[in-house]
Order: sequence, then structure tokens, then C-alpha cells
Amino acid sequence: MLNRLEPQSPDALLALIKLHAADDRTDKVDLGVGVYRTGQGATPVFGAIKAAEQKLVETQDSKSYLGPEGDMGFVNALMPYIFGEDATMGGRIQGMQTPGGTGAVRLAVALAQQAGMTKLHMGTPSWPNHAQILGDISLDWVPFEHANADGSANVEAVLAAIRSAGPNEGVLLHGCCHNPTGVDYSAEDWELIGDAIAETGVFPIIDTAYQGLGHGMEEDAAGLRSVLAKVPEAFIAYSCDKNFGLYRDRVGAFYVLAKEHDTLDVAFSNANALARASWSMPPDHGAAAVRLILRDEELTTQWLDELDQMRTRMRQVRERLAEAGMAGSVDLTPLGRQNGLFSVLPVSKEQVVQLREEHAIYMAGSGRINVAGLTMDNIDKFIAALGDVTG
Ligand code: LMR
Repeated sequence: MLNRLEPQSPDALLALIKLHAADDRTDKVDLGVGVYRTGQGATPVFGAIKAAEQKLVETQDSKSYLGPEGDMGFVNALMPYIFGEDATMGGRIQGMQTPGGTGAVRLAVALAQQAGMTKLHMGTPSWPNHAQILGDISLDWVPFEHANADGSANVEAVLAAIRSAGPNEGVLLHGCCHNPTGVDYSAEDWELIGDAIAETGVFPIIDTAYQGLGHGMEEDAAGLRSVLAKVPEAFIAYSCDKNFGLYRDRVGAFYVLAKEHDTLDVAFSNANALARASWSMPPDHGAAAVRLILRDEELTTQWLDELDQMRTRMRQVRERLAEAGMAGSVDLTPLGRQNGLFSVLPVSKEQVVQLREEHAIYMAGSGRINVAGLTMDNIDKFIAALGDVTG
């Protein structure tokens, strides 16, 4: 039976991690998978997480099962950061824990499909795993252009996609720090998007995996909140993997906004059943650490300070790139206006290979770079190499 299986190529982003690790050139630069790096190129555990883990070791008295919904203390403690002061919007929002943001996206699209969604409109390029997940559950999707050639957001395209959508169709939006382009909608754009969704009844699914890495926790939630204030129903997929540095611990949450509170119970009875059949229950450790941080004022301050430092460093890298202006045929100035870990450079697949083979610079085949992989020590080398292969 097994010989009927077709070989699958490994996920391109994850394969880059191995390629980079196997390269013994000492000046290699990793701009591949989306993890934050310090000015020294490290991805350390947050101090606030270390402290919370210590507390967890001392106080946790059982590792008995929780349930498909995971740690509801964690899920609820996050809500004011995502949704603001009225964190449940008058009882209309509820959530559950998921294995990372990927688990939340998977649950969101599977539940939407179960509720009758037949097609999802998605800006491209997008995080490659979005299309993989949709393919895996056989949910049709149609692309629209996310960004313009000048590195700004193509709001006309998303509005046209929403207006062209038929009944039972949805739209997938990135809440902030768009992956892979770094191009976010402006506050005015979000207002227009929210109005168009409210007028057409298209179902919004908002993936928020990088809150706090763009302009700040509050600022990065503004677009999402402005849409939620206008629409009757929405799904939100959330990740703590980046803003708490918990990548391999897989910490995420799935939230539902419903018209009435009663609908939430039915929605979560379905979401719990889907989760039980997929992963039974999410891993506990990282979420428990986040809960301990958010319930402790001192640890919360420490976490927010650490997040500020990350954001400030990424802004400095972006400013430095923007100041460089042209590198060969690539205009780096738009990168100064973009947000989060990623931007996409207009380079060919061959140029990406050339950067890797000749300059030991690792980036995704799509031209996406993780700006956090650049430091004051390697940024000039990167700009020169880019000039070399595109000039
Ligand atoms: C990325 O886009 O690099 C991250 O979201 C990691 C992943 O799972 O792909």
C-alpha cells in the first residue's frame, strides 16, 4: 500500500533551517525561517518566560489532562491585549487554546468549512502554509494581489475581492506584520475593509501571528479591532510563538466573534470536536508560562520591555536598509515603511541561489527575508551581496 504514496518535497522554509545548519562557512547569514534574532544573532528565551517557567516548576501540582480547549486562564488573559478593554465585546467573543498559530488557522478554516464556507479569498503572496492547510482540507481559495509594486498595500484589490465574493465565502486577512511582505493596511484601509465586509456579509478570518512586532501591542491590534467593531461574526487565529519567543512550544489561540453569545456555545462544541479529532488537546507548558506572566504585573512589564527591545532593533535594521537606497537593481527604501520580521525583495529564484552559494546568505525562494537575521556586523555584507547579484 505504501508504494502508492507520491514523494512530497519538504516544506521549503523548514528545509532552509537544515541547509543553513549544514553550511560551515563562518560568515553565513540566516534570513530564512521567521524567528527573532538579537544583534548577536541569537534567539534567546525571554527573561520573563524563564521566570514564569521557574514558577511553573515550583507551583504546578499536576500534569493531568485539561481538555481540547486547553488552558482557559491563558486564553482569557490574552484577550484584553488582542481585543481591548471590553475584551469579550459584551460576551460576543470566546476562545480556546491551539497548538501554535498553525493550529488556530487550521481550526478556523476547518470550522468555517463545516459551517458552509465554500471559498476563501486570500491576498498573495501569503504565508505558504496557508495554501497548504487549505489544500489539505480541500477548501477552494482565490488569490488577490496583496501589495503594489512600490511596496504599498493594494487596498483596491482586497476591496474588489470582498465585493466579488458570493454567499458563503470568506476573506483571510493578516492582522499585522504581513507575512511575507511586511506590508500592512493603513488605519483608513482597515476602515474601508471593515465597511466592505459588513456590507457584503463575507466571513472574515484574521490571522494575527506577530502582534507587538510592528509598532506595539495596542497599535498592531488596531486594524483587527476596527474590523471586529463593524462585523457580526469573525474568526481570529492568534500566535504567541513570536511575541513570547515560544516557537517550539507551540502556543496559539482561536477566537470566535458571534452575533449572540448563544451561538458561541454551538461554535465551540464543534471546534472542540475538531480539536479532539486532530490533536486531542494542545501542549500545556508554553501557554501556562504565558498565563503566569499575564497574571503578574512585574513579569508583564518585563515581557513588554523585552518585546520593545525586539521591535526597536528590527526598526533600526529597517532604517539602515532604507538608508542604503539601491542595492544593485533592488530599491530597499520601502523596507523602512514595512513591519515585522519580513519583507520581500524583487529577486529571482536564481539570484536567491546565487546569494546562498556565492555569499552564504540564506533566504526563502520567494525573495522573503527575515530582517531580524541582519545585524550591524552582517548588514553591509548583505547589501553588497545583493548589489552584486542584481547589479
Ligand atoms: C515563518 O513564516 O517563517 C514562520 O511562520 C515559521 C513557519 O512555521 O513557517
